[in-house]
This record gives sequence, structure tokens and C-alpha cells, in this order.
Amino acid sequence: MTHLGAAPDPVLLDEAERLGADELRALQLRRLQRTLRQVYEKVPHYRRAFDKAGVHPNDCRELADLARFPTTTKADLRDNYPFGMFAVPEHDVRRIHASSGTTGRPTVVGYTEADLDMWAAVMARSIRAAGARRGDRLHNAYGYGLFTGGLGAHAGAERLGCTVIPVSGGMTPRQVQLITDFRPRIIMVTPSYMLTVIDQFEKQGLDPRTSSLEIGIFGAEPWTEQMRREMEERAGIHAVDIYGLSEVIGPGVAQECVETKDGLHIWEDHFYPEVLDPGTGEVLSDGERGELVLTSLTKQAMPVIRYRTRDLTRLLPGTARPAMRRMEKITGRTDDMIIVRGVNLFPTQIEEIILRTPGLAPHFQLVLTTQGRMDHLAGQVEARPDCPGERRHPAGTEVAATIKNTIGTSVEVVVVEPETLARSAGKIQRLVDHRDRS
Ligand code: DLL
Repeated sequence: MTHLGAAPDPVLLDEAERLGADELRALQLRRLQRTLRQVYEKVPHYRRAFDKAGVHPNDCRELADLARFPTTTKADLRDNYPFGMFAVPEHDVRRIHASSGTTGRPTVVGYTEADLDMWAAVMARSIRAAGARRGDRLHNAYGYGLFTGGLGAHAGAERLGCTVIPVSGGMTPRQVQLITDFRPRIIMVTPSYMLTVIDQFEKQGLDPRTSSLEIGIFGAEPWTEQMRREMEERAGIHAVDIYGLSEVIGPGVAQECVETKDGLHIWEDHFYPEVLDPGTGEVLSDGERGELVLTSLTKQAMPVIRYRTRDLTRLLPGTARPAMRRMEKITGRTDDMIIVRGVNLFPTQIEEIILRTPGLAPHFQLVLTTQGRMDHLAGQVEARPDCPGERRHPAGTEVAATIKNTIGTSVEVVVVEPETLARSAGKIQRLVDHRDRS
């Protein structure tokens, strides 16, 4: 693996990345006050919500005052489908993206020209923090389309001065061929699909460690430190984490720096983070784990105020960018924490167990149903391509036994063929809940 330990030359950094903490807080307050006024004047939903909570944009005199304002949820966006949350006239909207909407209406996001410019700038900053530089070739296997991954990474890579190969997802043998022939230094893709690409290299008798790739920028779904180690060892790359969500902008809200690999720096000049107790909504102190809530500081077309991401993490002090706080790698979501017969469990715990079981790939889906009056949990896990047929059944039994012994939940595990679980924008829905709630 190439040594990438050195921090980037400070002249490469954006001005905001070099601000001191006090300057950054002052900038955030000015931008927050402006955004609160903008949404109160332009978006009927926010005017109603602020009035109902008895707060006015003038009540925000310091950053801590944000806690007095109401939060925004995905349901608020759905209720205002499609364009009710826009804060600018429709003819000023240059692009629309939407989340896949596995349940009901998709959530729609709009961007003005200034928003697209800011997005490209924060993505360029993220890709640079991952270790990429002007002139690098970058293989972009995030899906292009309404999903924000493909176009978001594309614009950022071009802004940084990279040569982008806009492959999008799918057609795995072709991904391997293009990596082999075009010799990119950087790959951007979901971590689960990266493992499929690595498997494909090996299936073709190629050693992925000898490929040109040096850095992988992985996000759009949760992944573990174990997966980092696996990707780094099998592909001989540096694996870093990128975070974002469509409602806030797409990828580029936070990025892990390659020289520290210690969690993701939130680009706080554009996105203001808070962590709440998901049950009570109370703001927690830095260091305490809870639900990440984000407020736009510079967005024009569709700013969000205190948007509840449902992602669980905690805020940590800045390291590689001292004034910008980090968020710890996401450990789960408030809504995919499964409570099965009273036991709380997160799909990431299951992933860790699967990764420790030889023969299995961390591509799985959990299905919850009601049998009689009890919850019943079943799991399907994909075998690795090199897993012999006779190993599959014992591997499933081992996973079930470990889940029972370590987490305490009974689960029926079936091992299926590689690449057979359905994917949408490269992601497998990790939990399908068909429980009878009546
Ligand atoms: O997944 C944006 C994205 C694209 C991020 C490419 C990174 C790379 P959505 O489809 O709206 O947007 O899904 C957002 O995905 O709330 C998290 O639950 C999850 N997610 C995104 N990045 C990470 C990550 C894109 N690095 C939702 N770790 C978020 C864990 C992540 N979960």
C-alpha cells in the first residue's frame, strides 16, 4: 500500500478548512441567522412550524439558540411533495434529485446554480481529504441518476481537477476491465459493491493488490472497521469513509481524512451538526452518542432546519482539520435498530459476525415477520464466490449460533448464491419488516 501519511500542503486547503474555531463559529452564526430568515419568509411549512413552536428567526442570537427551533423529518418532506419545501422560485432550480423511496413517495431535493457550485466544492474538498490530487484518474462506480452518489462524486472530482471515468454501478466484469485498462488511482463506490469488484478480480485470476488503485472513497451505507481492514488488505488500498444524504445535499457532508482515518470531518462551514437523544429530542453534549441532526447554512433551493437524519453517531473534536468537528463512523440508524422479542440489535452487529465467518460475504438481508404472536427473524446471506457448496450450510448455522450466543436473538440463516440479493443504487435493504402491527 502506498504511504499516504502526510497531511496535505496547507496551500491546497480551502480557506474554511484553515479557520480557527472562533472564526468558524462566527461564520456559522451569520449563515444560520440568514438561513432561518430565508426559510421563515419563503417556505410556508417553516413559517407554520416556527409559529407553532413560538420561535422567530430573531430569537437565534447564538448557535445554542438553534435548539429552540423545531426539527424537520422525512415525513415533513413527504407531506410537502414534490416542491413544497423549495425556498426559491421553480425557474431558479437547476437540478432535482430524489431518494429511492422504498416506502411511499420519494423525497425530492432541489438545487440552484449556487447549490450545485457549493456541492461540487465540498465534494472536491472531500475527495482531496481522501488523498486525491489534481490530475488523478478516478473511477466513479456510484450510480448516476436521481441518486446523488454518481453526479455528486462526478462534479467534485472534476472540480478538483481529476480525470473522471463515469462508469456508474453494475456490469462487474466491465468494472474490472476498465480499472485494469484505464489505471485509475482512485475508486468511488459503495463498500459492499467494492467487495463484489474485488471478488470479480479474483474470479478472473487477477490479484486486486496489483491494480493501479491506491484509494477507495466508500459511503452511502454503513460499513465497519473490519470491512475497512478487509478492503485494504485484499485490494492494497487506503479505504476512507464519505457521508451524506440527499435531503442535505448528497455525498460530501462529511469526509474522513486519509492521514488520520479517525472518523469523518463535518464540513461545518456549510452544515451545522447537533446530536439529539432520539427519544426525548434533547440536545446531547459532544461525545455523547445519539441521532445526528443537520442544518443547512448555505443552501438556497431547499435549506433544511434541524433535519433528523436517523443516523446514530457522536461528535468528536477536530483532528486533521482542527476547527471542524468529526462524527464517529455511523453505527446504525434509529429506524433500523430492530427490537426482536425485546432484544435490541443493529444490522451492523450481524455484519460483523458474518465477516468473521469464512465463506460468507457481508451482503445480507434480514426479514422480520410475525409467526403466531411472536417476532420471527430470518436472514439471507450471500456466499463468497470461492465458497465451496458444502461449506454454505455450516456457515449459515455458525452465524445463527453466534448471533444467539452474543446478541441473544434466534435467527434462521440461509446462505444464498453470490449477487442474488436485490440491490437498489448498489445498496441492499438490510432489513425488511413485515411484522403484523395490528
Ligand atoms: O447515500 C449519499 C451518498 C452517496 C453518500 C455516496 C456517500 C456516498 P441517500 O441515498 O439519501 O444519500 O442516503 C442517505 O445513507 O442517512 C445514511 O443512513 C446512509 N449513509 C450515507 N453515507 C453513509 C456512510 C446517499 N458513510 C443515508 N456510513 C444516510 C453509513 C451512510 N451510512
